[in-house]
Amino acid sequence: MKLAQLISQTGEPEATIQTLCHLLKMERTQVFLLKDIKDDIALQAMNVVKEYKKGIPLAYLLGHTFFYNHDFIVTKDVLVPRYDTEHLVLWAQRTIIADFVVNAGKETYKILDLCCGSGIIGVCLAAGCAWLNERHKNFQYEVTASDFSEAALDVTSQNAALHNADIKLVHSDLLEDIHEKFDMIVSNPPYIRTMDIGVEDKRILQEPRMALDGGPDGLYFYRRILATAKKNLKPNGTILFEIGYDQAKDVTEIAAKLGYKNITVYKDLANHDRVVTMRV
Ligand SMILES: C[S@@+](CC[C@H](N)C(=O)[O-])C[C@H]1O[C@@H](n2cnc3c(N)ncnc32)[C@H](O)[C@@H]1O
Repeated sequence: MKLAQLISQTGEPEATIQTLCHLLKMERTQVFLLKDIKDDIALQAMNVVKEYKKGIPLAYLLGHTFFYNHDFIVTKDVLVPRYDTEHLVLWAQRTIIADFVVNAGKETYKILDLCCGSGIIGVCLAAGCAWLNERHKNFQYEVTASDFSEAALDVTSQNAALHNADIKLVHSDLLEDIHEKFDMIVSNPPYIRTMDIGVEDKRILQEPRMALDGGPDGLYFYRRILATAKKNLKPNGTILFEIGYDQAKDVTEIAAKLGYKNITVYKDLANHDRVVTMRV
């Protein structure tokens, strides 16, 4: 069967292509160049896309997805990684390099991925730190990932192993059982308003509620984290949050009231406010 024929049968071009990449272990361009798709593969792809059309996220059906150019294991116990979060990783990496320039690697740089889910943030930052360490041996780092969901921590552990990333795992209700001090706390906490969950996209109702629900105004986790984070930050330590496109004003106000400094908002490529950073 030709690719065009298969796509016209499924009616879902993107899901079909991603499924073929998965089944055939090929890059997208290789899939586009296929002269013919074997019947058994076409049938498997049709079955996957059929489930996808019922509202199950593709990453759950395939068991993995790509994020920041890395392949990650994804199960129904974790949020499906979003492109928005790549922007948070990008700013965290820039901050690590900027801090290294200032501190010249005097102390081990300690990073906490709080609310780690599948571990995408911690794993990408550990990979970036390993890259920096290869070039500057005096840059030493330590990455910790934490979540309240034991099942999510298990997925983070699998992803850390997959990418050969040395990540310490801590089970904790936010910062309650975390007693170390970090140079950086980076977090994509649940931030959807309870009433808004599933309104725009029913597919997200398949994802763990505890990965999405930010309380009535979506700000519950920012308030709680900011209220206690100073105990877990070294002097001049930094916090980076992913935020919803309309939450910059509220999150910066909460941070300012609690005395955080250098509060900065960064936009994503769609020109939406997406990342808030601050220092103690
Ligand atoms: C929006 S998801 C982010 C997952 C991952 N960091 C990402 O960006 O894809 C939020 C995560 O917060 C976790 N979480 C929810 N409540 C928590 C709590 N009280 N303490 C720690 N983690 C919590 C959820 O289990 C979920 O993994």
